[in-house]
Amino acid sequence: MVKNNSKSEVNMNLNANHYRFLDACSEQFPNQVEFSKSTVRKICDTAGIPFPSWLIRKPQFKAGYGTYSIESVVSSNYCEPVAPVVQNVQTVESVPVPVANIGMNVLDENISVIPSIMDNYVPFGHFKDLKSILKSGVFFPVFITGLSGNGKTLMVEQICAKLKKELFRVNITIETDEDDLIGSNTLINGNIVFKEGPVLKAMRKGAVLLLDEVDLASNKIMCLQSILEGGGYLIKKTGEFVKPADGFTVVATANTKGKGSEDGRFIGTNILNEAFLERFAICLEQEYPPVTTEKKIVKGDFAILGVNDDVFAEKLVDWADVIRKSFYEGAVDEVVSTRRLVHIAKAYSMFNDKLKSIEVCLARFDEDTKASFLDLYTKVDEGVNPLGDEIETEENDKDDFTI
Ligand SMILES: Nc1ncnc2c1ncn2[C@@H]1O[C@H](COP(=O)(O)OP(=O)(O)O)[C@@H](O)[C@H]1O
Ligand SMILES: [Mg+2]
Repeated sequence: MVKNNSKSEVNMNLNANHYRFLDACSEQFPNQVEFSKSTVRKICDTAGIPFPSWLIRKPQFKAGYGTYSIESVVSSNYCEPVAPVVQNVQTVESVPVPVANIGMNVLDENISVIPSIMDNYVPFGHFKDLKSILKSGVFFPVFITGLSGNGKTLMVEQICAKLKKELFRVNITIETDEDDLIGSNTLINGNIVFKEGPVLKAMRKGAVLLLDEVDLASNKIMCLQSILEGGGYLIKKTGEFVKPADGFTVVATANTKGKGSEDGRFIGTNILNEAFLERFAICLEQEYPPVTTEKKIVKGDFAILGVNDDVFAEKLVDWADVIRKSFYEGAVDEVVSTRRLVHIAKAYSMFNDKLKSIEVCLARFDEDTKASFLDLYTKVDEGVNPLGDEIETEENDKDDFTI
């Protein structure tokens, strides 16, 4: 199949672009190594990566007329063969199957997962403490709990960005299992390949592992128990024992404290195993940003969006603050999160209409809540007309929307 497969060419130096492409191939066509040019194009379009001109140029990848094979690079790193799968008896019987360890390939230091710095990020709350923890390089699992949209995930990302620390973020769902976290055997071109998951990658690289929304997990998350103790992990499928590199640690975020959601606000959250929760050294309770901080956040968003309206930014935050106070007193069932304020800022940059922007962003709430929140806004900002008689301007098309 591969025309020219000499050892020197097989061992070509692969860079991040190569790996992105190889990764995309194995994800979209796990059992295939030979592709036509149009399929290569489709793979790249789907994965949103550049077309690999190197694949077309280098003779080692030419498989036939208009077809290209990546076999020489996916099978150049051999590791111990693992048990054959039943449905592939023929291949396994005919030759001893060398196993290409794609996981190792993917785990290339060229692929940077250091988050980018967000210019308008405003540190607050536990930012400093968490930064000290992650900077120390000490293995110290942290559990961050707080209402949705108050900047938990962003805080972890921005600290890693500032510290230039690699971050592996895993979005946990009830379906998340050992295969998703640790890795799984994948069949590639008749070979069984152990593809490493984000947990092993983070351990090997001494990176931060972020278990985002961990309270959505089922008991399958318990496979992380030894890792949360700072120990290594024995990959049963290959027999390899992976020890965490210096700097590796775990941060989890959740809307609850892992004890379920009594008021039913966070449907899908589960009661996490006590032994699992016990492995987290500390629990940080994240509140919404203080009013002055949140005003900076919304003004920062306005500035990026090219909106010059500090008064509106301030009114929005005052309004959210009143709603949150009522929420904590039990007077209302919903809150307006920092995330929602950012949505309103974006809507305002497009519609240039305050009440319309607020209303469309409140649409996810029930009618009563929506009406009472809108009404509350008109009390906080007496400049807007509750009857919706928006002052007509060239930008404001009054036919677009009336309340
Ligand atoms: N400190 C902050 N500075 C700037 N924007 C923030 C900050 N905290 C939150 N935001 C905004 O709120 C959004 C939601 O934050 P996120 O971290 O996803 O919330 P959570 O993980 O708590 O649900 C972010 O995408 C960002 O737009
Ligand atoms: Mg989050």
